[in-house]
Amino acid sequence: MNLIYCEDYAELSRKAASVVASQLILNPSSVLGLATGNTPIGCYAQLVEAVLNGDISFSEARTFNLDEYVGASREDEQSFGHFMDTHLFSKVDLNPENINLLDGRAKDIGQECLRYDEKLGFVQCGIDCQILGVGRNGHIGFNEPDDHFPLNTHIVDLEEGTIEAQRAYYAPGAVIPTQGITMGMRPIMGAKQVILLASGESKAAILEEALFGLVKPEIPASILRFHGNLTVIADRAALSVIIEKHPSVVL
Ligand code: F6R
Repeated sequence: MNLIYCEDYAELSRKAASVVASQLILNPSSVLGLATGNTPIGCYAQLVEAVLNGDISFSEARTFNLDEYVGASREDEQSFGHFMDTHLFSKVDLNPENINLLDGRAKDIGQECLRYDEKLGFVQCGIDCQILGVGRNGHIGFNEPDDHFPLNTHIVDLEEGTIEAQRAYYAPGAVIPTQGITMGMRPIMGAKQVILLASGESKAAILEEALFGLVKPEIPASILRFHGNLTVIADRAALSVIIEKHPSVVL
């Protein structure tokens, strides 16, 4: 595991974007696994700037997003598809045909999961670079704490804390989705490179548990310790518990 210390969120965003940018420079037709949430927003902003500067291009890249709410369509403002359009897709030169999103409005969610896995299976060498955030309960994508590590794309009942974390994005009194669809661990663990981003004190305890505790499905992110090419990019606040308990690893 490669642990990259950043002083703050701005540095984390620049460093994460540099990793993705170098991936695209070295292999313009890279397959990128993308996350939503607050954490990668700064990274996506940096990537947009790099495209505008002419330093990188997404024109040959393909993307797969990790997850979506059941019931949400790309047009819904709170959907992850809409998030991606807002923060990245509408601002870079990605070919729309190369964007892969889960359809939360699919009539048959089971079929939608199979369609996504089949699409992922067609990508011969898998995902080149998978960007991940981590939930306070240790989830990656919407892979919530469980008694096993689900391998394939599947439907999930979201934990109360995950639903609560979304409340800020919804109007008061609005109904917040309680189920998600998420890529499973197979494509994530099969990615050639995994970049785990963590920012802020609220991630400090779970980051330490995931990276230094037991590998167990109750802490889904802990499985990443078995990945051969994991880079964790985190800011001082997210690293605070690791700095306290394992100072030699960071300093
Ligand atoms: C979303 C996703 C989630 C988030 C996680 C952290 O696509 O994969 O696992 O990465 O919930 O969210 P933020 O970044 O908002 O703290």
